[in-house]
Amino acid sequence: MSEEVIIARQTPNLTGTVKASGAKNSALKLLAAAILGHGPSVIRNVPLISDITVMSKVIERLGGTVTRDGHVLTVDTTNVDKWETPYELVSKMRASISVLGPLIGRFGRAHVAMPGGCQIGARKIDMHLVGLEQLGVEFQIDHGFLIATTPNGLHGGDVILEFPSVGATENTMMAAVTAKGSTTIENAACEPEIHDLALMLNEMGAQIEGAGTSVVHVHGVSLDDLKPCDHTTVGDRIEAGTFLAGGALLGGPLTVTGVNPAHLRMAILKLRAMGADVETGNDWVSVERTRPLRAVDIQTLPHPGFPTDLQAQFMLLCALAEGNSVITENVFENRFMFAAELSRMGADITIDDHHAVVRGVDKLSGAPVVSTDLRAGGALVLAGLAAEGETIVRKINHIDRGYEDYVGKLASIGARVERTVVDAI
Ligand code: EPZ
Repeated sequence: MSEEVIIARQTPNLTGTVKASGAKNSALKLLAAAILGHGPSVIRNVPLISDITVMSKVIERLGGTVTRDGHVLTVDTTNVDKWETPYELVSKMRASISVLGPLIGRFGRAHVAMPGGCQIGARKIDMHLVGLEQLGVEFQIDHGFLIATTPNGLHGGDVILEFPSVGATENTMMAAVTAKGSTTIENAACEPEIHDLALMLNEMGAQIEGAGTSVVHVHGVSLDDLKPCDHTTVGDRIEAGTFLAGGALLGGPLTVTGVNPAHLRMAILKLRAMGADVETGNDWVSVERTRPLRAVDIQTLPHPGFPTDLQAQFMLLCALAEGNSVITENVFENRFMFAAELSRMGADITIDDHHAVVRGVDKLSGAPVVSTDLRAGGALVLAGLAAEGETIVRKINHIDRGYEDYVGKLASIGARVERTVVDAI
């Protein structure tokens, strides 16, 4: 048996310019939202990643068609006539649950396989269900499937989320678009990807205000009033933050384009606190570090707090900083597995429940490591660029889910990195 891996070798620096692709965590939902458009929507700046391939298959299984021309997808949902998603696709990618809201918005019903958990947590959807129930949706669970119906019609409601869940905000918002009357979502998630989704829905004819803030108002419109649209996906702030962490790690100067710096304010604040110089423009961020990394404390929180999706990348910076850092993971219950892999490379990290105490060390040494999730995988490759010797990163399918041409982009800014096939360990 053979296995594709990424080999990362000690690299003097990452310098130059690299462009962030469109945001994975927006594009996936934009494809789902196209279900409401009942025609061929054009979605631009879509990243070439495996999760998009899976979501495209979900749309096709519903009766739609997805054609790709580079980073431009045409999602034609004219003939979407099913409201069921198959388990084998949902089990591949949890984000398939994002079709729940649009299917309810279009058909008043849905039959969606329950998403499983993953390495970083249980990934429950109870808040999705509570939000949608406020709009008249009734749920049953049958053989691992979620059966959603609206026996008394889909109507507006006053929703308050107990946690600003990204997915729950998105599904509730997408169903509310065609509900009779108005909906308010309080304690909504404020991530930039929510704002991007609402932008596209409004381009289709929806009436959404406040998306990207904690109170979202949706005025229901008729399904017939929703038309296909042409939308450009927002830049991927997490991919950009991953490269910026790499620039801070090895020194730079490194510029990342295709991203709105306002979407990275907390990450930029922490890079500066760690001793890096950061400059920003309207669609780019540059980082350079000429002095030793300084320890910082980090709390992951819903946006605009520090993004959990950058926690592993910044733990790597802390691992090589002068002093001790405390990282608190408040969003997912099991997102410190990266620490165990990094410790095999010589990091000194102690985990206590949601807290990681990271004692800075002078250097890391290359080792065979395993990607436990998408962002940990990205961070392990960066660790291999800083470590002495060679690092072999396995289970890189996680990385391919969310980083377009990660090796090619890293190599273009100086990384000694390659994809290769080895005998499975
Ligand atoms: C989205 O996941 C992103 N994924 C995640 O990115 C990201 O980490 C997360 O938002 C937080 O920003 C996509 O957009 C595809 P949540 P989502 O609902 O929507 C709990 C990556 O690496 N919760 O905000 O699933 C949940 O278990 C991925 O790109 C409930 O308990 O996140 C988690 O602990 C990883 N019940 C927390 O809330 C619910 O009904 C945040 O979840 C919903 C969520």
